[in-house]
Amino acid sequence: MTASVISAESIPGTGRAAQGAIELRQVSKHYGDVVAVDELDLTVQPGEFVTLLGPSGSGKTTTMMMVAGFEEHTAGTVLIDGRPVDSLPPRDRNLGVVFQNYALFPHMSALENVEFALRMRKVPRPERRQRAEEALGRVGLGKMGGRKPRQLSGGQQQRVALARALVFNPAALLLDEPMAALDKRLREQMQEEIKTLQKGLGISVLFVTHDQDEAMAMSDRIVVMKDGKIVQSGPPEEVYNHPLTDWVASFLGDTNLIPCTIVERNGEEAVVDLGGLGLAKVRDRGASGENYAVSIRPEHLKFKTRASAGNGCAATLVSSTNLGATVRHRLTAGGHELQLRELSSDQGTRILPDEELWVGWDADKAQLLVLES
Ligand SMILES: Nc1ncnc2c1ncn2[C@@H]1O[C@H](COP(=O)(O)OP(=O)(O)OP(=O)(O)O)[C@@H](O)[C@H]1O
Ligand SMILES: [Mg+2]
Repeated sequence: MTASVISAESIPGTGRAAQGAIELRQVSKHYGDVVAVDELDLTVQPGEFVTLLGPSGSGKTTTMMMVAGFEEHTAGTVLIDGRPVDSLPPRDRNLGVVFQNYALFPHMSALENVEFALRMRKVPRPERRQRAEEALGRVGLGKMGGRKPRQLSGGQQQRVALARALVFNPAALLLDEPMAALDKRLREQMQEEIKTLQKGLGISVLFVTHDQDEAMAMSDRIVVMKDGKIVQSGPPEEVYNHPLTDWVASFLGDTNLIPCTIVERNGEEAVVDLGGLGLAKVRDRGASGENYAVSIRPEHLKFKTRASAGNGCAATLVSSTNLGATVRHRLTAGGHELQLRELSSDQGTRILPDEELWVGWDADKAQLLVLES
């Protein structure tokens, strides 16, 4: 794990009661004929880390802009800590904001950029300087306050933007793809730093990313958006393992979708007919539609021996590709093309040359969902 350069302890206000509840009630945004956000109901609890995840154009930035007060909504109400803020300008909403293009003022030093947020809030000059220095220290840039943005790396500029968003002790942070410009290593480091900071402060965060790994790693809850609407919301593991539709399943990574017909539904469990793969018990979250499929993530398919009990059937190996840490196998089984992913270190341990190849899965790893497409 990378050592964090941001320390939560040094933040004034640490240990204060969690605050920063954000609530959107039936919020819509129309641009002419374009419905960017469509009757959205969304709540971020105090101290919660909620990520909006969705394809380009699904309304994530528009949602953030309305919460921040940079865009006016067409309908609905936005509340912060229970108070409607619809008529408040951005600076009076007590939200720290880092947006897609974090736009530091190029002619100001890092310190002046951070101070600017306090100047806007009419904090007296001597206090301003001290608080800005503290905020830069918190993001590990204590010695770089005098530098202009162009004299800082992308990651350092990102931290200045974060310091600027935190310096006035906001109730909540709105972060719209704050790490889009960073390379993988810096990104992962910043992810950990933001999490540390958020936990230390008990601050709530509304976060936007395109990156599903980032969403999985950072969030208490993922809200999946499509066409200005929420299609599913829940803890990361739940949304990943129990998608309600094939669209959500595929958006959140690779999956095997096996069309099925329902034989029986009993609360959390269903019995389905998977055609050539036979009957199987699967998880059921009650999604209802016209056509159904079962989703099994490639890492949940396992090589088995015929003798082992449970869901499974004979399979033929089509190809194996080494991806570094994992190996992706393509198989056919029961007339379906399937993907199985295993750790490289486990590769082949279950495939013996003369043995018939079987694949199987645990019932609780197979999810019944609605086929939209
Ligand atoms: N000022 C505008 N005028 C007209 N349409 C707009 C405007 N801003 C956004 N839109 C439209 O609203 C929809 C939602 O845009 P938004 O920027 O919220 O998407 P997003 O989910 O943030 O996408 P991305 O992942 O690409 O940042 C899109 O169809 C977009 O074209
Ligand atoms: Mg956006």
